Amino acid sequence: MTDQIRVGVLWGSLRKDSMNGKLAKFVGRKLQDFGGVEIIEIDLVALDLPMFSGDIEGMPSEVSEFISILVGCDALLVASPEYNGSLTGVLKNAIDWASVGRDGDEPLACFKGKVSGLLSSSPGAIGGLQGLVHVRQILTRLQMLVVPDQYALGGGHEAFDDAGDMKDAKKAKMAVDVGREMVRVCRALKATD
Ligand SMILES: Cc1cc2nc3c(=O)[nH]c(=O)nc-3n(C[C@H](O)[C@H](O)[C@H](O)COP(=O)(O)O)c2cc1C
Repeated sequence: MTDQIRVGVLWGSLRKDSMNGKLAKFVGRKLQDFGGVEIIEIDLVALDLPMFSGDIEGMPSEVSEFISILVGCDALLVASPEYNGSLTGVLKNAIDWASVGRDGDEPLACFKGKVSGLLSSSPGAIGGLQGLVHVRQILTRLQMLVVPDQYALGGGHEAFDDAGDMKDAKKAKMAVDVGREMVRVCRALKATD
């Protein structure tokens, strides 16, 4: 029997019709279909994290909730919109809060030793690929193992049908393969614990 892998699915956009949200949730659903994977969608709109400031005293409850979710995950699938060649402030703010952590947690408990897979989408042809360079650098700095495979979906505004499924089977496979590789590596690492 294979161990259940718990995957957090996070997208760096607050937009209702976010193509990165659609991409992240689509891949998450497909991973769940393969079995042995539990998906936890991390909706930053619902969490409504404050902007980080070192002057905030105590940990806001929304942040605590966010950190609890991440600490409980084995892997993190991230779909990152590209803003001006980098990640969004929304995603960076969430990562910064999580890096601070809660009192009593191990340092970098949200990230260290966990596995990540990266996706992006934009309306343009390159699909936000450049922003992933920065996301990879940040998550690596936080001691995540970011799998080498990644996928940037160009033309994301017209890539999904009304049910949120990707219309192009080849592109869908490339996106899902990132998630499968992340799960494979995560499972292999867990087996050596
Ligand atoms: C401030 C700003 C900067 C942007 N910069 C880029 C960019 O560098 N590359 C790109 O492909 N798209 C860029 N876009 C377009 C986004 O890819 C597009 O808004 C996309 O819908 C964002 O993802 P979402 O649908 O998940 O929110 C930018 C959009 C905004 C608002």
